[in-house]
Amino acid sequence: MRRLPLIMASIALGAFIALPPLVAEVRKGGDEALGLYRYENFERPITCRQCHTDIYEQWAQSMMAQAYTHHWDEIEYFELAIPHAEKDPKFAEVQAGCNGCHAPVSFLAGDVPPPRPEAGSRANEGVSCDICHVIVARTGEPSVNYNYIVEPGRVKRGNREGVKSPYHETVYHEFTRSAEYCGTCHNEQSPYGVWVKATQLEWKEGPYAAEGVPCHVCHMPRAPGRSAVTAKDEHPDIAQHLFHGAHDPGKVRGAIELRMHPSDREVEPGDRVVITVQAFNGKCGHKVPSGSAEERQLWLRVTAVDAAGREYHLPVDRKGFAGEPATITSNELAYQDMGMMMDIPGFAGLPRDSLPEGDRIFCLPYFDPQGRRTIAQWNTASLGVDYRIGPRETKIETYTWTVPEEAAIGTIVVRAEMSYRRLVKSVADFLKVPADETEIIRVNDARTTFEVVD
Ligand code: HEC
Ligand code: HEC
Ligand code: HEC
Ligand code: HEC
Ligand code: HEC
Repeated sequence: MRRLPLIMASIALGAFIALPPLVAEVRKGGDEALGLYRYENFERPITCRQCHTDIYEQWAQSMMAQAYTHHWDEIEYFELAIPHAEKDPKFAEVQAGCNGCHAPVSFLAGDVPPPRPEAGSRANEGVSCDICHVIVARTGEPSVNYNYIVEPGRVKRGNREGVKSPYHETVYHEFTRSAEYCGTCHNEQSPYGVWVKATQLEWKEGPYAAEGVPCHVCHMPRAPGRSAVTAKDEHPDIAQHLFHGAHDPGKVRGAIELRMHPSDREVEPGDRVVITVQAFNGKCGHKVPSGSAEERQLWLRVTAVDAAGREYHLPVDRKGFAGEPATITSNELAYQDMGMMMDIPGFAGLPRDSLPEGDRIFCLPYFDPQGRRTIAQWNTASLGVDYRIGPRETKIETYTWTVPEEAAIGTIVVRAEMSYRRLVKSVADFLKVPADETEIIRVNDARTTFEVVD
């Protein structure tokens, strides 16, 4: 372990002196809490590491520890959101607001905007240990736009009754264990009042809420051990601080299951065959994709290969619902609002999906005030059709195919591949977002066969 003699000394002396917040009685959340505290009211994660070593190292790898420093967050905040907020008073609050969730300590200390990550300021702590463990309530229903209420100080709220720490007081706290707690940052409304993140609300409408399975079960799984090197007892159910999600390929793989079958097992060239694919969300407590749906992509590609090795791409059958074009991959130009934010006159836009066309894409389109697709959730004035896969929902897609006259006699193998990408490639290339954000994760695949006969 790295030696930090000063911190250890201060721990030994119990020298964490809780400075009072700027005003005496604060039970405010959301935008009203901006600047009500000082940085010194919140402890640094490195202090907690002295005893909670494993939990610290788990958290340090999670995206919440990187919520301010992560390259794509930095680019979107400093190159799109801040310039936009400076141009248009409607978005003035956005400058501070992003950090209500991404750098809560800076938000509460009124540091707007905080220095860039390279400066190494306390904004870099992201969603820190102390923030999460001093949240006591929310301002009201529903959880939305950082409406958590904090009471910083010696008392750390958690999931266990009666445990003793030499450094702080501990309290069992019901709210900490609820999905509504996570929802204070995982539900977001844009300045137009549009729900641009609704992970907890999606969960609430689904089967997992009814069964009493909150976020923690899947994102903070339990395992035996000690939560602190100095803990007296082992427990069979220590809450692991993994918070793994869209950035963990292992979490994403298999999130959706695929099966498929043909309408006929024997066809002649020129016959029509219908391939049916079922996509089942058996693993997620919310829709897939969830959260930053404006930039996540989940798509299904079906191809057939005949006995001679010729490959055919099967476009998905249209269902004819309103807004369906957004759910079929296309490279029409989109995201023109970035031109206004970045002062590029006449910006024509970028290819919408930067994927081969004609495949089903499971998405929730975000539209700017001019009705154009946007990846800026704060500039979202309306949403398109919600064609994502809900918890325990099965989506059925069909592919009607006239077997080509030249198809070889023998077995045709049909494959379905479902893939996931965190950020649209055209947008990433344009904004110079490092390539790991556009890695393609294979969520699942399936195959079926039929025979072409004379
Ligand atoms: C000097 C060691 C030490 C330091 C430093 C320390 N803790 Fe603890 N903490 C403990 C011990 C010991 C326990 C009890 C563990 C047990 O018995 O299972 C504990 C328990 C907890 C709990 C569980 C409370 C409950 O009721 O479920 C939380 C939450 C917690 N600590 C948060 C923090 C945070 C946040 C920090 C940094 C600001 C921190 N701790 C710093 C030693 C420490
Ligand atoms: C103070 C605000 C806040 C709270 C409270 C909060 N989160 Fe987050 N969470 C964030 C932010 C911000 C991100 C996005 C980090 C990034 O990628 O920039 C995030 C990201 C995540 C991710 C996505 C990781 C990925 O790989 O994409 C998961 C999973 C997650 N949080 C789970 C939870 C759970 C479970 C809870 C409740 C126990 C919770 N969060 C509470 C702010 C919060
Ligand atoms: C039954 C298990 C389960 C529950 C309950 C659950 N999740 Fe997830 N979550 C997953 C899985 C699996 C993934 C990875 C697949 C994906 O990205 O959607 C995921 C992904 C995520 C992501 C990344 C989504 C994206 O597409 O960018 C976030 C954020 C998240 N979860 C937060 C939460 C929050 C907050 C809750 C509670 C309101 C919650 N989860 C409840 C299983 C669960
Ligand atoms: C996004 C919010 C969040 C962050 C960040 C976070 N925690 Fe927690 N922590 C929780 C929640 C929620 C629980 C209770 C889990 C449950 O009930 O399933 C918990 C539980 C704990 C426990 C008790 C574990 C047990 O089962 O006995 C300790 C100790 C703890 N956290 C310390 C820390 C430390 C140290 C850090 C930073 C390195 C940290 N936490 C970061 C939300 C968070
Ligand atoms: C209400 C809380 C909240 C607010 C306000 C908020 N975010 Fe987020 N942000 C999140 C959460 C939670 C996630 C993770 C969702 C997921 O994994 O799908 C996220 C994800 C992101 C991501 C994607 C990170 C990645 O690696 O994929 C970027 C970029 C981002 N936010 C930037 C911003 C900017 C810029 C603002 C202000 C205009 C902002 N956010 C406002 C909660 C918030």
